[in-house]
Amino acid sequence: MDEVLQILLTDAEGTYVDGTVGSGGHSEALAKRLGPNGRLICLDRDAEAVRLSRERLGAFGERVTVLKGNFSDLRTILENLGQEKVDGILLDLGLSTFQLDRSGRGFSFSRDEALDMRMDQDERVTAGDLVNTLPLKELETILRKYGEERRAKRIAALVGKERGSGGVRSSLQLAHLVESAVPRSNRPGAKNPATRTFQAIRIAVNRELENLDGFLEDAPSLIRKEGRVAILSYHSLEDRMVKQTMARWEKGCTCPRELPRCACGNDPLFRRLHKKGIKPTEEEIAQNPRSRSAVLRAAERV
Ligand SMILES: C[S@@+](CC[C@H](N)C(=O)[O-])C[C@H]1O[C@@H](n2cnc3c(N)ncnc32)[C@H](O)[C@@H]1O
Repeated sequence: MDEVLQILLTDAEGTYVDGTVGSGGHSEALAKRLGPNGRLICLDRDAEAVRLSRERLGAFGERVTVLKGNFSDLRTILENLGQEKVDGILLDLGLSTFQLDRSGRGFSFSRDEALDMRMDQDERVTAGDLVNTLPLKELETILRKYGEERRAKRIAALVGKERGSGGVRSSLQLAHLVESAVPRSNRPGAKNPATRTFQAIRIAVNRELENLDGFLEDAPSLIRKEGRVAILSYHSLEDRMVKQTMARWEKGCTCPRELPRCACGNDPLFRRLHKKGIKPTEEEIAQNPRSRSAVLRAAERV
């Protein structure tokens, strides 16, 4: 939180976007530091998060706007608000504590809930639809690609068997099925074997990497000179995308290495604020164990 605020807020009278407002923790801290003309636009694709954070942020009046929307549509959302560019954008990717613990949508492998996993309840396809109807080869690819799951083939085969007797209907049923395919590690602190499968299916249902890609594509044109973008990732797939994109922004030139001189003429778009991602301290992890896997990367528009 401290690093995010320090990086993002360059001008207390500026306009900022929190693209993943969740329950409004970061937004509240940002809003508290804004001056009378500062403005914060908050988005979440989850209507319940929008409702909760609207309540929490209501005290800031017109300086804070909370909207239901996808950060991959940020360009259009800002256009509709009459706002061309902003001073800073924050994305805190992944799931909120509310979604994991209280939404009842089957995000957690330790709860028995319907297999939904949609962040945006207006989307049509649920986790249950994917698990029970996708061709097994495609399911296997999703598990391997988005979960980096080595036993993807075996898990997909077990899902196939289950389809014959009513399908996989609940999060606990899926967790038990994965456990029967992937032996539990005896190492202390080892991840639950279902972690990778749940991550993979959630990423596919919510098209998380496509949305991040859409945002990264538009970000350079949405941030003012000296404005900043800060992104918190929670798994290596999204962190890799952010890391590679920021490196490309900083380089500017897209000419092949072999070319002796730049021919593309592309200028750098951003300067990275740190060469390496920032990770939480032991102390922060002790206070908030879910911050364990977080990596923060930030860049400034040049
Ligand atoms: C880790 S939580 C954010 C927590 C928030 N920073 C806070 O302080 O409470 C991630 C949130 O991002 C939302 N989200 C994920 N992908 C999104 C997208 N493409 N567009 C908008 N919101 C998204 C989720 O619905 C979830 O509420």
